[in-house]
Amino acid sequence: MSKEEFLRLEFAKGLAKDLGRFAKSKINSLSWTKTKSGFYDVVTNIDVEVENRVKEAVLKAFPQDSILGEETGTSESEAANPDNLLWIVDPIDGTTNFSKGVPHSCVSIAIVENGEPKVGVVYDPFMDEMFEAIKGNGALLNGKEMHVSEMSELEKSVLNTGYQYSAVNMRKKVLSDYEAFFGKIRALRIFGSAVLDLCYVACGRIDGFWEYELKPWDMAAGSLLVKEAGGVIVDLLSEEFSIYSKSILATSSTLLPEMMKVLKA
Ligand code: IPD
Ligand code: CA
Ligand code: CA
Repeated sequence: MSKEEFLRLEFAKGLAKDLGRFAKSKINSLSWTKTKSGFYDVVTNIDVEVENRVKEAVLKAFPQDSILGEETGTSESEAANPDNLLWIVDPIDGTTNFSKGVPHSCVSIAIVENGEPKVGVVYDPFMDEMFEAIKGNGALLNGKEMHVSEMSELEKSVLNTGYQYSAVNMRKKVLSDYEAFFGKIRALRIFGSAVLDLCYVACGRIDGFWEYELKPWDMAAGSLLVKEAGGVIVDLLSEEFSIYSKSILATSSTLLPEMMKVLKA
């Protein structure tokens, strides 16, 4: 692990924790909630405030770095120099939960070099759980090593999924996947935070997760956490997974063939 990565990891953890706690303190007193497009894509004043505060702090501490955030897009420096380290931020993942007072959401920060996540930090303020990884160094949950589950039997597995509310073009595929798993697994969950879904695969609480049409800020930190926890990440629609992929499957190598059989059927 380089000194640069370590410094940024510690900085990202501090930010995610402080801002996650700030978001938690505001969950029942939001100033505004609105939709970005259609009637599904919710944003609150806290999403925007958290993202602005991350941007300000990162650009002050690491002025050579760039930032891509869900709510405010890219910093000027990214456009200027695509070789910079890129911080990818989801200020609140699980905004629909958050906007309804459901305590299941998180702050997600990834640091990416040439499209590859090097550092991943996710903080869930409601469980006081910090998930962290540096590429090549394993993954931790609250400072302890975490691993994906060793599940290999589909019928005993508990899976997680979600759907991108705006992706009406995926409706048939989404519904046929649910149907395909029906009667073959122990349970299917939709918790409403793709980032935490990935974290839950990484720490073995959930045996597998898949979703279509996610964005880099939904996948960058979580995909690194899963890989560093010994799991596998697959793009269901293309050869190789990248944080810009249009689909993601996260599971253990032991359950992967079983999940693929169903999802590719
Ligand atoms: C959403 C959540 C949700 C997933 C959606 C995402 P947001 O992100 O991760 O679980 O199903 O596809 O857009 O809007 O809460 O940051
Ligand atoms: Ca998100
Ligand atoms: Ca978000």
